[in-house]
Amino acid sequence: MELYLDTADVAAVKRLARILPLQGVTTNPSIVAKGGVPLWDVLPALQEALGGEGKLFAQVIAPQAEEMVKEAQQLFARVPGLVVKVPTTAEGLAAMKQLKILGIPTLGTAVYGAAQGLLAALAGAEYVAPYVNRLDAQGGDGIAMVQDLQQLLTLHAPHSKVLAASFRTPHQALSCLLAGCEAITLPLDVAEQLLGTPAVNAAIATFDKDWQGAFGSLTL
Ligand code: E4P
Repeated sequence: MELYLDTADVAAVKRLARILPLQGVTTNPSIVAKGGVPLWDVLPALQEALGGEGKLFAQVIAPQAEEMVKEAQQLFARVPGLVVKVPTTAEGLAAMKQLKILGIPTLGTAVYGAAQGLLAALAGAEYVAPYVNRLDAQGGDGIAMVQDLQQLLTLHAPHSKVLAASFRTPHQALSCLLAGCEAITLPLDVAEQLLGTPAVNAAIATFDKDWQGAFGSLTL
């Protein structure tokens, strides 16, 4: 499976790349805007934070297919290996088809329905990103949508991977993996929740207390 962080926080990527088996970093325009560092500066910094290896994802801004393709070519030329995120609109689907012909890898993003995700895969997207929590927040069922999407891709577009996104809890991310998704991207707070389970810390504190009670400062 592939694990990504959904952030443009360079320091956090550097810290977590030491701990987690990261394949890379995903971004979107809101994430980059929140970080305050322009895309052309933050992408090389993220690449360096990953140790010079790892896949980066950046999203086009333009609403029309022709401009999306131009932006994607620009991104891909500046950052070799980058996967271009394209919103799964009608224009986005047209752009994904053209980018497939040009050999530029894409991710169909902003996916709120299984059929929409399937269309991105059929248009040639290498990855499809369903928005789990955003759909839940609208009263939908994000996990059920991911289950349907994963099944559809397995049956009809096996070249394309679900890269499940938009999480508020580790449980949402794990449910996607159990549904068979090959990739997930975690926001920093969810990655931190996975690493900092209070019950684990409490268990370790008890081990320390018991050891010190019996042996004082004796080490192994
Ligand atoms: C992924 O493609 C999206 O950019 C991102 O994961 C959306 O997540 P959010 O709902 O936490 O903003």
